[in-house]
Amino acid sequence: MIVLEDVHKTYGRQKVLDGISFRIREGSVTTVIGTSGSGKSVLLRQMIGLEKPDSGTILIKGENIVNLSSRELNRIRRHIGVLFQEGALFDSLTVKENVAFPVREHLKLTEKQVQEIVDVRLTQVGLREHQDKLPAELSGGMRKRVGLARALALDPAIVFFDEPTTGLDPITRDVIYRLIEKTHAEDSRTYVLVSHDVGGVLRISDEVMMLRDGKIGWSGTPDEIRSTSDEAVRQFFTGSVNGPIRIE
Ligand SMILES: Nc1ncnc2c1ncn2[C@@H]1O[C@H](COP(=O)(O)OP(=O)(O)OP(=O)(O)O)[C@@H](O)[C@H]1O
Ligand SMILES: [Mg+2]
Repeated sequence: MIVLEDVHKTYGRQKVLDGISFRIREGSVTTVIGTSGSGKSVLLRQMIGLEKPDSGTILIKGENIVNLSSRELNRIRRHIGVLFQEGALFDSLTVKENVAFPVREHLKLTEKQVQEIVDVRLTQVGLREHQDKLPAELSGGMRKRVGLARALALDPAIVFFDEPTTGLDPITRDVIYRLIEKTHAEDSRTYVLVSHDVGGVLRISDEVMMLRDGKIGWSGTPDEIRSTSDEAVRQFFTGSVNGPIRIE
């Protein structure tokens, strides 16, 4: 479903991605972890076609997106939803209009059909009664939920999440994880997350990959994380070198 082969990306003299290869299974929840600055967001930008890698292959549903023109990329993007780190909502558009935006951009539908899609997605994230508010009138957690509704609006096969819970309190974080779990269970899409939220990662992921030194330094299941002897993975999940693995 998503296959990366030997992907490289350098900015100036800084090599950020140094030969990334992996496969993401269709219908799975996969999380890329790694310390701040390890290149998680850079990796995500290559996978959604926002930037081109210097070399390597990125197959999305069997198609190498690296060499696609922006028009061809647009066709692929129709099947990809993205929840950006800051939500990236349009401040001057209401909740409803934010969710309708990609629908209007990609599909030729009647106003009534657009409304129906918006209703379904806002109901799914529990925000239907807030549909006429502006992003500034929402809490941080609500903005993430609007972002999720918008990411799901086109009924995408793949949804990418960049740090979906950063900056939220533990209760709101839990709400977002429940929504991620719920929407994944309802629609069985492929979810790819980038996160440093240790507890959440263990809870919702089928597969975890650790980005380090520009490569996938470790990958495995949450169960394998709990029993791994890999020092960097243990350190990441415990915050200390020899402590027990914390499980929420
Ligand atoms: N457009 C760019 N131009 C130059 N350098 C960049 C660019 N984007 C990212 N970098 C560099 O690439 C490295 C990885 O950045 P990235 O944003 O992917 O980190 P990250 O793993 O997402 O970190 P965080 O967990 O803090 O979000 C950083 O050193 C950053 O300065
Ligand atoms: Mg980042």
